Amino acid sequence: MPEEHPQRPTVVLPVDSAEALPTAAALLRAGKLVAFPTETVYGLGANALDAQAVASIFRAKGRPNHNPVILHIAGQEQLFSVVAVWPPLAQELASRFWPGPLTLVLTKNERVPANVTGGGPTVAVRWPSHPVAQELIRLSGVPVAAPSANRSSELSPTRAEHVVRSLAGRIDLVLDGGPTTAGIESTVLSLAHDRPTLLRPGPITVAELEEVCGIIQHVGDLPANAPLPAPGLLARHYAPRTPVELCNSAEDVRNRWREMQQRGHRVGVLAISPMAEAFVLPADPVAYATQLYDRLHQLDAGAYEHLLIELPPDTPAWLAVRDRLKRAGTPA
Ligand code: TXA
Ligand code: MG
Repeated sequence: MPEEHPQRPTVVLPVDSAEALPTAAALLRAGKLVAFPTETVYGLGANALDAQAVASIFRAKGRPNHNPVILHIAGQEQLFSVVAVWPPLAQELASRFWPGPLTLVLTKNERVPANVTGGGPTVAVRWPSHPVAQELIRLSGVPVAAPSANRSSELSPTRAEHVVRSLAGRIDLVLDGGPTTAGIESTVLSLAHDRPTLLRPGPITVAELEEVCGIIQHVGDLPANAPLPAPGLLARHYAPRTPVELCNSAEDVRNRWREMQQRGHRVGVLAISPMAEAFVLPADPVAYATQLYDRLHQLDAGAYEHLLIELPPDTPAWLAVRDRLKRAGTPA
């Protein structure tokens, strides 16, 4: 396909170099695009109050305009500059989980440009815990709009190299802060419905949220005719380029692997059960999540024709990981 996006040099700076953060903050203030580490995945940041800068995020990612982006803040003053209403429940959740990997969907303030919110009345806000993200937001002095720093519908980046592979030539700077720790995207909870509603499972678990909120509803519990509350929750997302097949047991993986081998296919395997043919990830959901995207990026770069993935058990602790795997396994 012809390359339609105007190319520019993408600079990569290690965060421990003295010029890295001031350079990044100056670029953000000038309306440029900066990828930076958070505790979940790398974000592709722009000044959230500059509609043109936000528009360039969508162009760089090839992201549909109706898919709203998350605003990253570092402080109460910034928070109140982007939300119109701050309910007591939001305060309780923020006291417990911020800074951290929880995104809250709230009624937006009129200062937030329409393209941040997909034209809708709500805004997604998160106060990240990663020190580089916090310092960048503070130094730039503006709330930072940042989706994950990858082309739309591809795997999220957990290392600077992943960002470069996906977006080099399309963004101005990558701050390299090493691998991220949580490894999957933040939990997204909407407080804009009559009951708190989980739009995306993530590192903050349902059990943890329910200690603060009581029973929450899940996006699937909303009536089928309700407008899609998170327009970005397209089924296929976070997907490797190589076709993925999900298997419910180690035995299924072995059987499918043998069949595909016999047909001469090159097959990559990701499992939690020990097996010789596979990349084996830890059978613990938190440790698994930390490594998931990095392994998928490696498998995707490995010239395989198919990927087989053993699904972890269908238990609450694995909810977020299974969500990402199911999206990766949805055919394009
Ligand atoms: O961990 C994360 O959340 C990372 C880091 C960079 O912070 N960001 C991230 O952004 O995953 P993104 O754009 O890849 O995913 C944002 C999700 C999408 O599913 C989007 O639809 C939803 O949040 N979202 C954003 N604004 C929303 C809104 N106003 N209402 C409902 N959902 C919203
Ligand atoms: Mg994303």
